[in-house]
Amino acid sequence: MLGALASKVGFSNGRAFDVDKELPDLTGKVAVVTGGNDGIGFITVRALWRKGCKVYLACRSEEKARNAIARLAKEEPGKEDQLVFLPFDLTELPSAKKAAETLQQQETRLDIVVCNAGIMAWPYELKNGVEVQFWNHLGHHALIQPLLPLLKKTAKASGPTSVRIVSVSSTAHTFSPKPDFSSLEAVNRKMASTWARYGQSKLANILFAVALQDRLKDENIRVNALHPGVINTSLMRGPLTAGLPLAQKIANATQRYFLMSPEDGAKTQIYLAASPEVDEKDYRGLYFVPIATPAKTSAYGQDKEAAEQLWQLSENIIKQLST
Ligand SMILES: NC(=O)c1ccc[n+]([C@@H]2O[C@H](COP(=O)([O-])OP(=O)(O)OC[C@H]3O[C@@H](n4cnc5c(N)ncnc54)[C@H](OP(=O)(O)O)[C@@H]3O)[C@@H](O)[C@H]2O)c1
Repeated sequence: MLGALASKVGFSNGRAFDVDKELPDLTGKVAVVTGGNDGIGFITVRALWRKGCKVYLACRSEEKARNAIARLAKEEPGKEDQLVFLPFDLTELPSAKKAAETLQQQETRLDIVVCNAGIMAWPYELKNGVEVQFWNHLGHHALIQPLLPLLKKTAKASGPTSVRIVSVSSTAHTFSPKPDFSSLEAVNRKMASTWARYGQSKLANILFAVALQDRLKDENIRVNALHPGVINTSLMRGPLTAGLPLAQKIANATQRYFLMSPEDGAKTQIYLAASPEVDEKDYRGLYFVPIATPAKTSAYGQDKEAAEQLWQLSENIIKQLST
């Protein structure tokens, strides 16, 4: 009862998922985690790497990525060559193209991509012509698209285990106004609040997974989206309380007592990235809430027409901005 209530407001439903015990050996597999230097992305990198996976940390800050790698290497010395910094900025299309090229040149397989990086509640700003929070989606579309041949090739050779693409959304997708992905102007339009724009980007994370899974329906590739929880990470210490020093202090002091830990917050995406249960239960194109539980999205999250419109628009914007 309490679990169901907690789950309704975005917290963990208390389902037990023991990452160490329930993940299989991942030796020989290759993963990419965007935003792997901090928060739940960092915990996801750590979980996959500890199981033997080679993990690329796709990050915009080389310094932060190298610090994250050094931290992990200190925890478990001897296999830091299995952690690789991959330059990637969600808001810079050339960096997505370059990251995909690097992966194709350096690897013969790619088993897992966790589209995790993101910002929240940012003031209105156009970055490279696109509303800054919408890059939470568009940067991931730009990264995944050129990687599809490598992902499909891996899926053909990976036996019964599927290739996984994980799209980190949020319960905040419910804050999105009625989706309008008819044009870049529609995406960039002024909305009621920064939360509506964050909601639009997180709805796009879900619809991207729906449209992508549709395109990969005949492949051994599983694409799922999730809300990770309401978690004590840097995301919560950003612009939410910026300019309000007292609010910032109170938030910092109290957050750790009532928000989920990054370890618990990362569990749902770790589960979708590597748990055998995802294959056993045939999970594809679904949305999950913490911890590792399938759930319903808002009605907009199930709108296949909106998903298609988003796919076409994203392709067009990427093409237009790349020329
Ligand atoms: N925390 C929550 O309660 C919560 C709830 C629902 C959904 N989520 C989602 O969970 C995901 C991870 O969030 P988190 O809580 O772990 O936040 P976090 O600790 O702030 O981590 C976010 C990561 O994204 C990276 N990032 C941001 N903008 C980027 C860009 N333009 N290019 C490349 N990387 C960029 C950050 O890099 P820098 O370190 O360089 O900034 C950082 O590595 C996000 O997609 C978020 O929307 C979080």
